[in-house]
Amino acid sequence: MNQDEMKAMVARAALNHVPAGSIVGVGTGSTVNLFIDALASIRDRIKGAVSSSVKSTERMRGHGIHVFDANQVEHLPVYIDGADEIDHRGNMIKGGGAALTREKIVADLAGAFICIADASKLVKVLGKYPLPVEVIPMATNQVIRRFKVIGGDAQPRAGVTTDNGNLLLDVRGLSITDPAAMEIEVSLWPGVVEVGIFARHRARLCLLGTPDGVRHMDF
Ligand code: 5RP
Repeated sequence: MNQDEMKAMVARAALNHVPAGSIVGVGTGSTVNLFIDALASIRDRIKGAVSSSVKSTERMRGHGIHVFDANQVEHLPVYIDGADEIDHRGNMIKGGGAALTREKIVADLAGAFICIADASKLVKVLGKYPLPVEVIPMATNQVIRRFKVIGGDAQPRAGVTTDNGNLLLDVRGLSITDPAAMEIEVSLWPGVVEVGIFARHRARLCLLGTPDGVRHMDF
C-alpha cells in the first residue's frame, strides 16, 4: 500500500468519528482533502463544518457542505486534521500547509483532536520536519535570531503568505524533547502569531495508516 492509499484509508475511517447532526472541525492538507471528499458522502447527516483554511472552505463548498464561521459556534465535538509529525503522546508538528494558526483556533473549539496520518508521520521526537512558525512580518529577523540562540535555523518560506497575511518561517535543527515547554516559550516571543507545535492541543486519537490497516492510537 502506498502513502496515498494509506491517507485515503484513514480519511474514510475518520467518518466513523463524526457524530450525526454535528458541526465538524476540518483541517487542511492532502489527507484532509481526502477526508473532505469522504465527508461529502454523509453531508446530509451533519449540520456542516468549521474550516481551518481558505482551501478547505472552497473544497467543502464545492461538495455542498455548509461551512460555518468559527465565531458562529461555541463547541465542536471533533476536529479532524493531518499532521507533519506526531509522537507517541499525540504531540504534533503542523503547518506544512501554512494553515497552523487557523488550525489551532479550530482545534481549540473542539472536544477532541483526531489526527489522520500515514505511518511516515509517526516519530519518537518531534523536530526532523522543519517547524512552521507564523510571524508578523516586522518581527521576522528578531524571531530568526531568537531561534538561533536555541539551535534552530529559521528561514522564511519563499513565496508564502498565510491566509492571515503574515509570513511563515520554517525552523530546522530543533530536537523538540519537551513540546509543551517549547510551544509556550515560542508563543511568548513578540511577533509570533502561532507556532506549529500542537502540545496543548495534542491529538486524543490518531488514525494511523499502515500497510496492515488503520492503527488506532489513543492518547
Ligand atoms: C497544514 C497541516 C497539515 O495537516 C500537514 O501539513 C499534513 O498535511 P498532509 O496531509 O498533506 O500530509 O498542518 O497546515
